[in-house]
Amino acid sequence: MNVNQFWYIACESRQLKPLKPFATTILDEWIVLFRDDSGKVAALQDRCLHRAARLSTGNVKDGKIICPYHGWTYSSTGDVVQIPSETEVGRKRCSVRYNVIEQDDYIYVQLKEGDVVPFKMPHYKDRGYTTIRLQNTFENTVTNCVENFLDIPHTTYVHPTIFRNAKRQKMGATVERKKGHVKVTYLDEKSDFGIFSWFLNPKNENVGHTDEYFMPNISTVNYWFGKKHFIITSQSIPVDTKTTLVYTDLTYNYGIWNWISRPIIRWQGQTIIDQDIVILRNQSETIRKYGQQFQNSPCDIIHTFIESIRSEIENGRDPLALTEKMERIEFWV
Ligand code: FES
Ligand SMILES: [Fe+2]
Repeated sequence: MNVNQFWYIACESRQLKPLKPFATTILDEWIVLFRDDSGKVAALQDRCLHRAARLSTGNVKDGKIICPYHGWTYSSTGDVVQIPSETEVGRKRCSVRYNVIEQDDYIYVQLKEGDVVPFKMPHYKDRGYTTIRLQNTFENTVTNCVENFLDIPHTTYVHPTIFRNAKRQKMGATVERKKGHVKVTYLDEKSDFGIFSWFLNPKNENVGHTDEYFMPNISTVNYWFGKKHFIITSQSIPVDTKTTLVYTDLTYNYGIWNWISRPIIRWQGQTIIDQDIVILRNQSETIRKYGQQFQNSPCDIIHTFIESIRSEIENGRDPLALTEKMERIEFWV
């Protein structure tokens, strides 16, 4: 299994307008997206076969993309269908073309053929649920971003008041690594959710909480506060070796509070992400200077499981071959 064979979000559906190309970068590959006449999405390498101008700076007409330099025109399959300076196209020429799927209002691209399907965003557009969608650029690797999104101990340091206040109480969890998936199930959690405690957990009861990692780049965090359900799903897209574009869905079911709480949830989510962007930039600057040798405490087993799967993928090995493991951890927050 290779890192290029997974599906990565190229953009949100709403970002790709008809008649307008959209440029994006995934794994250092320049990609241009456009819609054909029927609205179906095409993804090609963002480089003209003729003299290498960027196709994304050209135009889309009749469902085809036209290079801005000499007008070579490409169909949605990447075939050159017109060369304005010639009466005929001549021999068959075809640009590098990628597989594309539009799902859950995201456009996914697969750089190399592989036997996987795009991730289904949990409860997206399900009855009773609403979703707030955010996009943020992190100056760090996918691995360090995903680890941050599934890391509890940092929350009382980086996000006090807005997310979780320290209570110095014991928290237990089971951590399972199985087939490219890591699942953390927290037991008897009674966190102090800062300024939102009165709403989320007014009686200070146990909350349900699971954190999951799905290879290669997805994290989901689920909270259940009685009937209220809140899910944070993040897809971390490797733009290049030091930049990660993170698409975050905040999907929740707060019953009658769904619509009225949207601006507050958006503000809270973005504020927390802004705090993580700062600490992750801080971390990556130090890693660039001194290298990435980490030391672990027992609750970092979550991260070492994620790192083990990511390292298999990055080295072109099969992460499904890793042995299944289950651990129990305890820590203080
Ligand atoms: S570079 Fe694209 S048409 Fe010449
Ligand atoms: Fe965080």
